Amino acid sequence: MKTRKLSKIFDIKGKVAIVTGAGRGIGQAIASDLAGFGASVVIADMDLKNAQKVAREIEAAGGKAIAIKTDVSDNKSVDQMVRRTIEKFGRIDILVNNSGIMSRCMVMDMKEEELERTLEINLKGVFLCSQAVAKHMIERKGGKIVNMGSSMSSRGSVCNLSGGGADYCASKAAVQAFTRTLAMELAPCGINVNAVAPGITNTPMHEGLWEGAKLYYENSVPLGRMAEPEDIADVVLFLVTDAARYITGQTIHVNGGQIMVD
Ligand SMILES: NC(=O)c1ccc[n+]([C@@H]2O[C@H](COP(=O)([O-])OP(=O)(O)OC[C@H]3O[C@@H](n4cnc5c(N)ncnc54)[C@H](O)[C@@H]3O)[C@@H](O)[C@H]2O)c1
Repeated sequence: MKTRKLSKIFDIKGKVAIVTGAGRGIGQAIASDLAGFGASVVIADMDLKNAQKVAREIEAAGGKAIAIKTDVSDNKSVDQMVRRTIEKFGRIDILVNNSGIMSRCMVMDMKEEELERTLEINLKGVFLCSQAVAKHMIERKGGKIVNMGSSMSSRGSVCNLSGGGADYCASKAAVQAFTRTLAMELAPCGINVNAVAPGITNTPMHEGLWEGAKLYYENSVPLGRMAEPEDIADVVLFLVTDAARYITGQTIHVNGGQIMVD
């Protein structure tokens, strides 16, 4: 039997990663995981103060990170972020399209502009960042892209209880469909494209959430609790290592078993 050096398979030391929406929540946990395992990380977030705080924390722990103010829904902002990443670190190996917003509006109350804003950030943002970064990955003949979907992409949601509105659910289903086709297009270039679909996760996105809704979720999740950001980040970490080299175009569900019972 061939002997394999397993530590090599999980090694991301020296890789360069961009994580969008990494100023807090799940993105922050992903950035910390990647930096903790030796990658240089770009914290790309609309909220520069939060992004700088996360970068400082990573550096204080001995990692490498820079904060870049980025609006993923704006072409120029995305191009500038990618240019600054290349200037600073010379290449891009990993892109995590994590930034997203959640609306909680019922369809009959939803304004056209609200729907457009959700799609601009949650879907167009994934498109703009993927296109800008994939150009470099194609030149280098390799890379890993992970997009953030949601368990709400495949089930109905009660948005005034705790879920997202129909615009949010549709945007996440679109991200997962986008992931499959991008994976087909980039497979010949050695680039893996996957999505992670979290269930309800304890982040500032749910600040102010009705306590009863939290209890409902805790009781309905087979593993007995909401996810913590690290539960999601660890799966993203796996997907960007060589251990996941034969996985592409997939959505990995991380929800404590919740979609089995809903
Ligand atoms: N928390 C959950 O329960 C949950 C469940 C499923 C999926 N998700 C998805 O996971 C991702 C992260 O969620 P979270 O709970 O950490 O959210 P969060 O609200 O805590 O953090 C989102 C981050 O994205 C940034 N952001 C928003 N708009 C941006 C833009 N235009 N450009 C750049 N950055 C922008 C925010 O500033 C913020 O730092 C999102 O895509 C979300 O839809 C979250």
